[in-house]
Amino acid sequence: MASQQKNVGILAMEIYFPPTCVQQEALEAHDGASKGKYTIGLGQDCMAFCQEVEDVISMSLTAVSSLLEKYNIDHSQIGRLEVGSETVIDKSKSIKTFLMQIFEKSGNTDIEGVDSTNACYGGTAALFNCVNWVESSSWDGRYGLVVCTDSAVYAEGPARPTGGAAAIAILIGPDAPIAFESKFRASHMFHVYDFYKPDLASEYPVVDGKLSQTCYLMALDSCYTRYCKKYEKLEGKQFSLDDAEYFVFHSPYNKLVQKSFARLLVNDFLKGASSVDEAAKEKLAPFSTLTDDESYQSRDLEKVSQQLAKSLYDAKVQPTTLVPKQIGNMYTASLYAAFVSLVHNKHSSLVGNRVVMFSYGSGLTATMFSFRMREVDDSRFSLSNIANVMNVGEKLKSRNEITPEKFVENLKLMEHRYGGKDFVTNKDCSLLWPGTYYLTEVDSKYRRFYERKPVGPNVNGSLANGH
Ligand code: ACO
Repeated sequence: MASQQKNVGILAMEIYFPPTCVQQEALEAHDGASKGKYTIGLGQDCMAFCQEVEDVISMSLTAVSSLLEKYNIDHSQIGRLEVGSETVIDKSKSIKTFLMQIFEKSGNTDIEGVDSTNACYGGTAALFNCVNWVESSSWDGRYGLVVCTDSAVYAEGPARPTGGAAAIAILIGPDAPIAFESKFRASHMFHVYDFYKPDLASEYPVVDGKLSQTCYLMALDSCYTRYCKKYEKLEGKQFSLDDAEYFVFHSPYNKLVQKSFARLLVNDFLKGASSVDEAAKEKLAPFSTLTDDESYQSRDLEKVSQQLAKSLYDAKVQPTTLVPKQIGNMYTASLYAAFVSLVHNKHSSLVGNRVVMFSYGSGLTATMFSFRMREVDDSRFSLSNIANVMNVGEKLKSRNEITPEKFVENLKLMEHRYGGKDFVTNKDCSLLWPGTYYLTEVDSKYRRFYERKPVGPNVNGSLANGH
């Protein structure tokens, strides 16, 4: 049955990332990796990380408060709040319950939703829960709110440069400028040990890097094939890369995004889609007899397809890459940070466009879905205002570069603190922007306490809360 609510989707967004980062070029030299491995090989510029006063709870407190203030949303108007995260701080108490502190003053405790966890996919699960709620008969007319929050840290070794940290808050409701095309969702879910966190005493994952890359591409192929089939069944015509203006990928590191888009071109070639011209067909023909397994291993196919996809990549993917390249993998927030980059770069020309999203979480869970970008009457929720509020350019510019030595020192302290109790932090919030929440103490009963750095005088302006 068709939903009563029309154009349900994203009304507003806010992104928060720590103001502390390490340059990938400096990290490369520090780690003794060959020059260009992290910057060209992985395609990353910089990596954000939490210092001892920040964690996934403080980042999400900041993102949610900032969203409610900057878009002038009454706290009583939130009816559902869902969190996606894979950063485990407590095995029972959800991050969502910490966020309820924001609503205390308003007296609004009537807010459904808890946390969703499966690697980098939890944010997408949370988003679908909220969208489904607004589209359902149990919707009570209020907004849904989704928070994706993660701190991605790895043990010393090749995965370490693929870390990052951020929280993104996403307001959900009808008549949205970023409307879901709910009928075109396609998933691929499977049991595999490519990346997992079995050691509850450590924040670091166990990761089979090569396997995770292959799993990601397999899930992408499967989701794209199913997405195209659903589209074709409903629309009565073939779907190809020509049918969406932008493609946004979960972005552990940029090189995988480049490979993923090229993989979609190969899919189009194999089904004879019009998006692949004659010259490209000729170059791809020698690979058409490869089995799926062989094609994942073929370096030649990877190289040729990336070359052929380059101009389309520049037009349809490159505008989505800014934040993931600058911050690194943000796990659940990573896909949405790529989408934030698109809104930042293209907000004035997005109306009418289709944007295809690919969400991947190890273990594994993956979904491809799409948005249709729209003009809306409420100027708070215009694409330009969303870009203005998020103020990504200024936030990136005003970060503090930390040396690799200090970054590693910080990781050691965080290792020690992880799962710990009975400590106070240094409470140094001098590097934090106004309006940022920070951790002050974990007491002898593991209870966590946060404070907020005072908000600037103008909370509605583009430099509200400092940023
Ligand atoms: N100059 C330019 N490029 C270089 C250089 C150099 N000096 N040195 C290496 N490279 C290239 C390599 O050729 C390779 O590129 P390619 O894939 O196009 O061949 C790239 O840099 C990376 O080098 P590898 O040797 O393959 O890297 P390594 O195996 O050491 O680590 C990996 C990469 C596996 C991604 C690791 O960082 C990791 O495990 N990360 C975490 C897992 C992950 O992010 N998986 C993705 C999906 S799951 C998720 O989102 C968590």
